[in-house]
Amino acid sequence: MQAENNSFEIIKNLLKNQKVAGQEYCEKHNETYDLIETPGGIVGSCSICWREGIKKEDKAMAEIAIESKGAWQTPFIMKNEHVSDDLKDAKLNTYKPTDKTQEQAKKLAIQYIKQFNGERSLIISGGSGRGKSHIGISIANAIRQMGYTAWFVKSRDILKLIQSTYEDGSALTEDYIMKVIETIDLLVLDDLGAEYIKPIQGDSESWASDILYNVFELRLNKATVCTTNYSMSALEQKYSRNGERINSRLLYKADTIRLQGEDYRLTI
Ligand SMILES: Nc1ncnc2c1ncn2[C@@H]1O[C@H](COP(=O)(O)OP(=O)(O)OP(=O)(O)O)[C@@H](O)[C@H]1O
Ligand SMILES: [Mg+2]
Ligand SMILES: [Zn+2]
Repeated sequence: MQAENNSFEIIKNLLKNQKVAGQEYCEKHNETYDLIETPGGIVGSCSICWREGIKKEDKAMAEIAIESKGAWQTPFIMKNEHVSDDLKDAKLNTYKPTDKTQEQAKKLAIQYIKQFNGERSLIISGGSGRGKSHIGISIANAIRQMGYTAWFVKSRDILKLIQSTYEDGSALTEDYIMKVIETIDLLVLDDLGAEYIKPIQGDSESWASDILYNVFELRLNKATVCTTNYSMSALEQKYSRNGERINSRLLYKADTIRLQGEDYRLTI
């Protein structure tokens, strides 16, 4: 298939100038392939396995590769964008609003995509199963189709990823992750507030909220879509000493929408 071949070639070209860390042999397809060292980790695959993978769960990843071709962030995003199965095919036209707020959110999302200028932000809040992540990933995919780079990631996964860089021998660095966050055309930060922040003596642990503060500082004046179960005041409380400053950056040049209606998961 044309699209699959294209994505394989694109990735090969993207990785062409990176360091070869070794070679591996695929017995199934009798093919030796290079292992490439990227800041996102060591990657490599036999060309037939790659194509077979795309046919299955890597289809969404192949789309990322095709859509954001040439961008240095692409291998990183491909490795670090985890979309749950129930959202793999999410699109705005499969989002069926069940009430007025959901209707508004859908309109706002379409408008956001049409008017995308890399500067405005969007905050989608509301209870579980209202379609926040559905709308978030749909926006990321649409923006990528327009040729921009976008990263859909849970705030908790950013923290986990940064934590992993503190381990000995990590090829990935905190600076590199922050550079991606700073330079990506659109950051979709899913489930803001769901990350665990350890409370200590009336205040809360500062590491996680310091990192999130840095994220919002780097994204100031850059397009960020956030989804959250929390209200603004609950977020402010959660991030304690960084709360007010995080909220101020979060709300800068941002439209907000709170989704009501039903929990879609309970209707199926
Ligand atoms: N209005 C809708 N029309 C079609 N599908 C929907 C709608 N709302 C939600 N869904 C689907 O329901 C599932 C849950 O939605 P989603 O993950 O977006 O919820 P959420 O608001 O992010 O919830 P949580 O706060 O638990 O993360 C997904 O598979 C999503 O595609
Ligand atoms: Mg969600
Ligand atoms: Zn193989």
